[in-house]
Amino acid sequence: MKFQPVLDEIDAEIRPLLGAGGTVASYIPALARVPAAQFGMALRTCDGQEAHAGDANKPFSIQSVSKLFTLTLAMQRLGEALWERIGREPSGNPFNSLVQLENEQGKPRNPFINAGAIAVADRLLSLFGREAKTDVLELMNSLTGDPISFDVEVAASEAATGYRNYALANFMKSFGKLDNDVETVLDMYFHQCALSMSCVQLARAAGYLCRDGVHPWAPGVNLLTERQTRRINSLMLTCGTYDAAGEFAFRIGLPCKSGVGGGIVAVVPDQLTLAVWSPALDATGNSLLGMKALELFVTKTGLSVF
Ligand code: DON
Repeated sequence: MKFQPVLDEIDAEIRPLLGAGGTVASYIPALARVPAAQFGMALRTCDGQEAHAGDANKPFSIQSVSKLFTLTLAMQRLGEALWERIGREPSGNPFNSLVQLENEQGKPRNPFINAGAIAVADRLLSLFGREAKTDVLELMNSLTGDPISFDVEVAASEAATGYRNYALANFMKSFGKLDNDVETVLDMYFHQCALSMSCVQLARAAGYLCRDGVHPWAPGVNLLTERQTRRINSLMLTCGTYDAAGEFAFRIGLPCKSGVGGGIVAVVPDQLTLAVWSPALDATGNSLLGMKALELFVTKTGLSVF
């Protein structure tokens, strides 16, 4: 299938809708300043075909999409032991909700809600110590072939206003579920969320998720086993878009991971990875037009896991 004409068509259909709905994330001041009327889309197939449209080369704050990559690092090193601290059930709650943590003694429902990603960041600090942030950057450099960096302004902006994440981390700490101190864990978490990447880079970086864990550029290098990769994809489908996971499965039917910067990564197993970006969000914190673009993509191509 030739994908460039499909992406061009989607771009033409989305562009008139820019600015018509949704709002940029306002609880992180540095994100509140991002102009809403932007849209980009990129894909990369398992055999290396690439296509992109709109603002696909413009870097944005990947926010919770980073949870895919930190989970990958933690699964590589910890295997099954990771699940002693983190569940794998959908939360049915907003990504920054505190309510389930108390009932479930500080064990987050899944690695993609904020509490779960904070627990993953804690595991990475225990494994890699001070190098943990550098290890995340090295993974992203290796996956994209580009020098990826943290947007330190976004990280600082989130640290200054991250009251809910402090509450979540302190709560987990009170249950003995974090080994490192709260400040250090959140510094790691805020930096991973502040990774700055474009759709083109994200579609490349996620490539191992459609190839049974094989590195997108280096054949023979496995980031994850086939089984671990299947598990990340199923977690994306059930938990990757928080309390909108049912709606995503219904309308799109692909494993997806979203972020409040407006990015969404989607996987068509054994075929391709796709990244979309548009900063205006719906009430669940997912990109409004990003979701629409993914829906158009599956409708036009028939590609879906169902
Ligand atoms: O912790 C936060 O609230 C943000 N750094 C990330 C949240 C996020 O992207 C959730 N996604 N929809």
